[in-house]
Amino acid sequence: MINIAILGYGVVGSGVAEIIEKNKNNIAARAGQNIQVKRILDIKNFPDAPHKELITDNPDHIFKDKTISLVVETIGGTRAAYEFTKNAFMCGKHVVSSNKELVAAHGPELLKLAKKNRVNYMFEASVGGGIPIIRPLSRCLSANRINSITGILNGTTNYILTRMKVNGESFEDALKDARQKGYAEADPTADIEGHDACRKIAILSSIAYNEFVDASVIKTEGISKITMNDMEFAEAINSTIKLLALSRYENGKIYCRVAPGIIKKTHPLAGVDDVFNAVLVNGDAIGDAMFYGQGAGKLPTASAVIADVIDIVHDRYSVVDNVWVRPEKSNLVDIANESIRLFARFSARNREAAKQKINKVMGKVEYIELKANNEIAFITDLDLEGKLRALLASLRGSSEINKVENIIAAYI
Ligand code: HSE
Repeated sequence: MINIAILGYGVVGSGVAEIIEKNKNNIAARAGQNIQVKRILDIKNFPDAPHKELITDNPDHIFKDKTISLVVETIGGTRAAYEFTKNAFMCGKHVVSSNKELVAAHGPELLKLAKKNRVNYMFEASVGGGIPIIRPLSRCLSANRINSITGILNGTTNYILTRMKVNGESFEDALKDARQKGYAEADPTADIEGHDACRKIAILSSIAYNEFVDASVIKTEGISKITMNDMEFAEAINSTIKLLALSRYENGKIYCRVAPGIIKKTHPLAGVDDVFNAVLVNGDAIGDAMFYGQGAGKLPTASAVIADVIDIVHDRYSVVDNVWVRPEKSNLVDIANESIRLFARFSARNREAAKQKINKVMGKVEYIELKANNEIAFITDLDLEGKLRALLASLRGSSEINKVENIIAAYI
């Protein structure tokens, strides 16, 4: 019998307790012994919770209990979770985490501390919810040189974009729904503004390229500026808009960004809708491999947490020490110097005069015409992003153009 503790009885923590109880026979068969939740740490009261008798607000009940050998950290954030994780390692307890913010910010340091204390730090649930992706990248694909990762890594924003496009729902209603379903972060700004996806691509890229990719320097843009008009123009060219987290390794350098992107409907990620996430990995031996599943929510995320618990109990992987071989931070390339196509949408005082001005400034562009929309939208030619953005910015002040409504990366 192995005793574990759960730190944080929120959406994921309660899901972990629920599945461990519900699937206990199957889990015991896989782990080689029974796994029991002995304590749950939370400062809130849960008078009606099924595990209320296990809940304590005193960390000593866990850290000083020598019969608890593994701690599941589902608190989130980098404050209490960071201290508790370090404390657990120093008390000789393994830690399984779903906390992407903590892993992205302190992963190398925590892995080092875990190794020093001869315990494991595993975090499959930190990226992609229920999708196995950390283990495939660090283990199953380890023979490859990974060339690129392209992912839809945030369930909340994918759910919102899908609801807006398919049901014509407003951004606010779709977000409310995502929060009710337990997909969104405590502060959904992290979802909407792309920070959550940024932390996740930083973790995946660090593992894939074996360097510490620092989330704080990744160029990140969320979906708050995306409107129905953008979606209609994308639809007119048989494309869709997704919040894409992507990175690639080229000539010893890493390109990494998070931003909405227009992709053709034939792209493998175009049909990934609702709360689903997907990660498209390209390796030099395997070629393309895609991982798909529910990227957020109580039970899918708990499923990934418990898989790590089972692996540690079964002692299948002792001390995960081959991720982030080089803990020093990577230098990311300046995306302004990389080639891209951009979609731009303008409102104009005079359409014909505005188009003439655009042709003069931008050179060759592909216009997208919508009968019911008087705005001007086009896709630029492939060019350096910094140059394209400077040219688009120069249109801003011209008398023919009323307003630059939006600019979106176009991977078409
Ligand atoms: N808020 C996150 C999402 C939860 O929507 O993807 C899963 O990490």
